[in-house]
Amino acid sequence: MIIRQITKTILLSTIILFSAIYSNKSSAQDGKALFNTYCAACHKMDKDLTGPALMGSEERWGNDRKKLVAWVKNSANVIASGDKYANEIFAKWNKLPMTPFESMLKDAEINAVLDYIKDWKPASAPVATTDNAVKTAPDKNTLYLGIITLALALAALILLFVKRNLKKLSNETLGIQAATPIPFWKNKSYITLVVLLLFISGGYMVTKGAIDLGRNKDYQPVQPIFYSHKVHAGVNQISCLYCHGGAEKGKHANIPSVNVCMNCHKSITEYSGEQLYDGNGKKVDGTAEIKKLHKYAGFDVNNANAWNPNDAKQIEWVKIHNLPDHVYFNHNQHVEVGKVQCQTCHGDIPKMDEVKQFSDLSMGWCVNCHRETKVQFKDNGFYSIYEKYHKELKNGKLDSTKGITVEKIGGTECQKCHY
Ligand code: HEC
Ligand code: HEC
Ligand code: HEC
Ligand code: HEC
Ligand code: HEC
Ligand code: HEC
Repeated sequence: MIIRQITKTILLSTIILFSAIYSNKSSAQDGKALFNTYCAACHKMDKDLTGPALMGSEERWGNDRKKLVAWVKNSANVIASGDKYANEIFAKWNKLPMTPFESMLKDAEINAVLDYIKDWKPASAPVATTDNAVKTAPDKNTLYLGIITLALALAALILLFVKRNLKKLSNETLGIQAATPIPFWKNKSYITLVVLLLFISGGYMVTKGAIDLGRNKDYQPVQPIFYSHKVHAGVNQISCLYCHGGAEKGKHANIPSVNVCMNCHKSITEYSGEQLYDGNGKKVDGTAEIKKLHKYAGFDVNNANAWNPNDAKQIEWVKIHNLPDHVYFNHNQHVEVGKVQCQTCHGDIPKMDEVKQFSDLSMGWCVNCHRETKVQFKDNGFYSIYEKYHKELKNGKLDSTKGITVEKIGGTECQKCHY
């Protein structure tokens, strides 16, 4: 009797735990993703950026969700309507208009973002320590949840067995032939079914969580020098290939050496551009960062002519992108032959002060693109070996509007990507 009670309690609490997690997870996740995509460029939760810190904004708007939605859709309308608070913050932020999102986000999506903002708590913010820390760690919750679920399911199963054997034992000693109909929640087939389901979903979460452990989408480590891609590739329009020339020529894109930096920074010794901020919204002194570079280079501004490039120490940049060793990836094949833009895989680097990993680098990511992307066949000597396709294209056997995807030339065969 006691054992049956325990079994039931465990089963019930697992189911409740489960549904609770599932019901609030999806929308919170969506809200976060949407926030990062559309709002994070100007807003942080706990610090002013281009726009105000958003923590507690719902209360500042008198918990008027309708008005907030209208604001996100088009703030100019709310300001024009004469709303007092809207005009106050607009004035406070020097009449800097916020992007209207009415054409980009559906109402439900705006609400998901606002829910995410409302529920956000400082404690859940990723911890940033100073030294090369991972600012955004991969989400390990799924893994833990999976493990808990599996453990609970196992406990329930063991108890079921114990119970069955005990019952059998007592029935045998008493000589009872049990025959009363059993209500369905006590029926072992149902219970077993539930346990089985728990096993499957627990196993799924463990696997998924474990796979994600090795992945680092959004990984953005603190670098030894605050080197801004926005300043270099964005504002000053320096070509990616000036520093990452390897991307065109070979497998690796390469990180430039100190001496490449010094081509310019022998003469550019101060930073006078727009104020820079780090990921935590703290001011960064560009000139001090250039001084750090000079220290690595062993360069003395007051004695520039005495500089010897051989004195330079390499900067220990923290590597951001890291495919596992069993995967073969070649930049040249994509950049030069495939004509894929850096941005497609790395995101809008010219707008990033600090680089972060834009794609998850999963196998699905590679394969999906190979299924969808057409190869540049025309006038591309590399593909002359694919005479067959050229012929089929010519005699109309292949639909030229669909073109030839990377998959067609074998881009989804295992050995193409795996050693
Ligand atoms: C281009 C920059 C920019 C983007 C992108 C942006 N905002 Fe704003 N936001 C602002 C500015 C600036 C203000 C201050 C009011 C003003 O000047 O218009 C503001 C104000 C707000 C406020 C009022 C804050 C308060 O303290 O009451 C909310 C809420 C808000 N934004 C939500 C969002 C959401 C949600 C998104 C993404 C869907 C977003 N913003 C995207 C610039 C931006
Ligand atoms: C003036 C030199 C310079 C230019 C120009 C430049 N980069 Fe970089 N890039 C660096 C340095 C230095 C690093 C290493 C530090 C870091 O990650 O910020 C780096 C890092 C990167 C990384 C991350 C590498 C890793 O560790 O996985 C990517 C991706 C990248 N750059 C892409 C680009 C793209 C795309 C462009 C053009 C839009 C570009 N870079 C322009 C110097 C440059
Ligand atoms: C098809 C997707 C794709 C394109 C296009 C692409 N990259 Fe990469 N990039 C990657 C992947 C994947 C890695 C990780 C490679 C690894 O870990 O071996 C990477 C790594 C890097 C690195 C780190 C150093 C290295 O080689 O491992 C830099 C820097 C970089 N890319 C810059 C660039 C630049 C600049 C361009 C454009 C000229 C570019 N990438 C185009 C996918 C791409
Ligand atoms: C082609 C020329 C060029 C090269 C190469 C170059 N820089 Fe710069 N760098 C600039 C310019 C231009 C500025 C902006 C100066 C200003 O606005 O006052 C700048 C600004 C900076 C700053 C201050 C702003 C910031 O990003 O924090 C740092 C630090 C810096 N560079 C580091 C580097 C490093 C490290 C390298 C090598 C990986 C490098 N630079 C390569 C031209 C270059
Ligand atoms: C944005 C689209 C895109 C992504 C993402 C992408 N690729 Fe590719 N890939 C291409 C294109 C386009 C080609 C065709 C160029 C060629 O034939 O060499 C190609 C070709 C290849 C080839 C040569 C295939 C052949 O038959 O010659 C390999 C290997 C490859 N990719 C590996 C990878 C790996 C590994 C990843 C993930 C880490 C990846 N790719 C991600 C677009 C992509
Ligand atoms: C277009 C490139 C590409 C092709 C084709 C490809 N893989 Fe992968 N594979 C990858 C990448 C990238 C990873 C690393 C994923 C990660 O780190 O999460 C990977 C990881 C794996 C893993 C390790 C498990 C994991 O998720 O990390 C296995 C096993 C695997 N691949 C098997 C295969 C098999 C079998 C095939 C053929 C049916 C295949 N792959 C075809 C790119 C490819």
